[in-house]
Amino acid sequence: MIDITKPVPGSIASTISANAARLSEALNTHMRNSFQPESRKSLRKFHPSEVSELTGISMSNLRTRHQEGDFPDVETDSRGRRLYSAEEMDEIRHVMARTGRNGETYLPGRRQGDGLQVISIVNFKGGSSKTTTAIHLAQRYALRGYRVLALDMDPQASLTTMFGYRPELEFAEGGTIYDALRYENPLPLSTVIRKTYFHKLDLAPAGLMLSEYETETAYALQQRVDPPFTQRLAIALDEVEANYDLVIIDCPPQLGFTTMTALLASTGLLITVIPSMLDVASMAQFLEMAGETVRTLEEATGPTDWAFLKYLVARYEPMDVPQSQMSGFLRSILLDQVLTTPMLKSTAISDAGMTQQTIYELDPAQVVRKTLDRILESVNSVADEFEQTIQHAWGRETS
Ligand SMILES: Nc1ncnc2c1ncn2[C@@H]1O[C@H](COP(=O)(O)OP(=O)(O)OP(=O)(O)O)[C@@H](O)[C@H]1O
Ligand SMILES: [Mg+2]
Repeated sequence: MIDITKPVPGSIASTISANAARLSEALNTHMRNSFQPESRKSLRKFHPSEVSELTGISMSNLRTRHQEGDFPDVETDSRGRRLYSAEEMDEIRHVMARTGRNGETYLPGRRQGDGLQVISIVNFKGGSSKTTTAIHLAQRYALRGYRVLALDMDPQASLTTMFGYRPELEFAEGGTIYDALRYENPLPLSTVIRKTYFHKLDLAPAGLMLSEYETETAYALQQRVDPPFTQRLAIALDEVEANYDLVIIDCPPQLGFTTMTALLASTGLLITVIPSMLDVASMAQFLEMAGETVRTLEEATGPTDWAFLKYLVARYEPMDVPQSQMSGFLRSILLDQVLTTPMLKSTAISDAGMTQQTIYELDPAQVVRKTLDRILESVNSVADEFEQTIQHAWGRETS
């Protein structure tokens, strides 16, 4: 009898193990050289033009109100230009809310009676830009003045890694969203949420342990454990809901119980899609399966409470003819469900990703200015368009 758990020397299995060991060692070296641990990460400061764009206060008003002593004193750079931290930007927003005309427009978050918006970024096609979209939206909305919880529902924990954690070391023993969802002695969600170096942005991390949730849910369903997976995340979120305006969930590339748990706690969905034939075909399959599963669940638990469903054309290359045809094809079928603005493909995103950074964290001095401006413009426009969908869900129309 051959013991399949023990690789035979010289066999393919032993080659695979050897490859794994060599890769893991090389990756560790790469991570050591490029990794920015959470403790070393910090948020850069912002120039007046950025503050104006993020807060909606005109540059001239910003200057005047400083001269009149309404705003806090901020640091200046060597050329005498003001530099603002995210906290200072927020203080200024609150001054405007108290004293400006149409004051409340400077605070875009929830108002009395507005529900928490929980948005799942989803698609079962791997590598379709879900994590990239999730982290950029989460950071942009935090900078815009929303209180944001980034929730990592993927056992691969890429989102968690982007925040400067090494899940395989730091969360090997626990401390992830799994602890708040598990069937045996679940912990309050607040005990796993971490503040981040990004003002107004918290993280509920993931780790490999979260993959247990998939198998445990199958068993819990047989045993009729209450509450079932359809309610577990919504119940966990109830505890912290007053602390946030938005929850952005990064889903794994599967349609299992973990993704379904996220979808059923969501108020809105954003499906990222790369405009290629294979990706669109795969998404069509995903939609068919998701639709079917949700309909079956709805028969048991009542209608799903989704306020919106949007598609984002991701990693888009406008000069690529097949891509632009595919993108046009998507729009002709899914109409205004597809966000008008695509997220462009850019080396700034992939380069920044290599060192767990976003385009908001990159030091502008280290990137070709034109490249950075082009992708900032693209990502900001995507976020701003989607922000209107969120505001609409709160019954507000923005220009
Ligand atoms: N707009 C973009 N321009 C350039 N590179 C991008 C862009 N969006 C994503 N990428 C790169 O593509 C790769 C996959 O992206 P990402 O991890 O966001 O996908 P994902 O859908 O979360 O993948 P998974 O299904 O494995 O979770 C990453 O290396 C990322 O840096
Ligand atoms: Mg991902």
